[in-house]
Amino acid sequence: MTAQLNPRGDVAVLVPAAGAGVRLGPGGPKALRRIGGEPLLVHAVRRIAAARSVHTIVVAAPPGDVRAVRELLAPVAELIVVPGGATRQESVAAALAAVPPGPEIVLVHDAARALTPAILVESVAAAIRGGEDAVIPVLPVVDTIKEVSADGVVLGTVDRSALRAVQTPQGFRRSVLAAAHAAAVDPLTDDAGLVEKQGVRVACVPGSEYALKITRPFDLALAEHLLNAEHLPDVAPAAERG
Ligand code: C5P
Repeated sequence: MTAQLNPRGDVAVLVPAAGAGVRLGPGGPKALRRIGGEPLLVHAVRRIAAARSVHTIVVAAPPGDVRAVRELLAPVAELIVVPGGATRQESVAAALAAVPPGPEIVLVHDAARALTPAILVESVAAAIRGGEDAVIPVLPVVDTIKEVSADGVVLGTVDRSALRAVQTPQGFRRSVLAAAHAAAVDPLTDDAGLVEKQGVRVACVPGSEYALKITRPFDLALAEHLLNAEHLPDVAPAAERG
């Protein structure tokens, strides 16, 4: 059934999904790779659409696949599909430009984090609503981290206690994200990086292990397993449904 988004919601979610996914090996755009018989993008959008605050979803699709992505997602949720750009940042900018007037909170969420629970969307949005200009979900770093030279020799050990692995959805006050994109010069791998450059404070909320970024063949296998496991969080916990 097509999910109806909340016309009184205050959140727009941008989904950059135009990457080639070369690290997954051959097989087409990453967002269209399948787990449980469905493309990653479908899983990601279904979970976003289950978050009660979401008013608008804009997907940036591979430029050659816009029509196919529109058809793919039409049964999942009512949303906007735009052609993505040559970099993730360009894809986000294209999606941002397509957000209609209304939502004052904008989240940016990678399609590759297909199993992200709706409750994480809500917790990031809630932090912006609570007064933050920019919010990222983070997890502690569990591995020891070393700095290594180009020829594979250890230069030093980094103190991991202050390090965090950053996930999406990243949340922003709409005007803050628009200003950061307008001022952007070099492409960065995330949007919080852009607003940091503007001197904006970026706050952290706890991330979710289910928001793992499906990047390599191992991640695809892990995601497939998680999808079949009983402990996968619901698409939307009951408390989050309107
Ligand atoms: O390449 P990477 O894994 O960092 O991509 C993160 C997200 O950005 C993915 O969801 C990918 O589809 C998206 N992306 C995009 N446009 C690009 C490159 C990546 O929308 N040109």
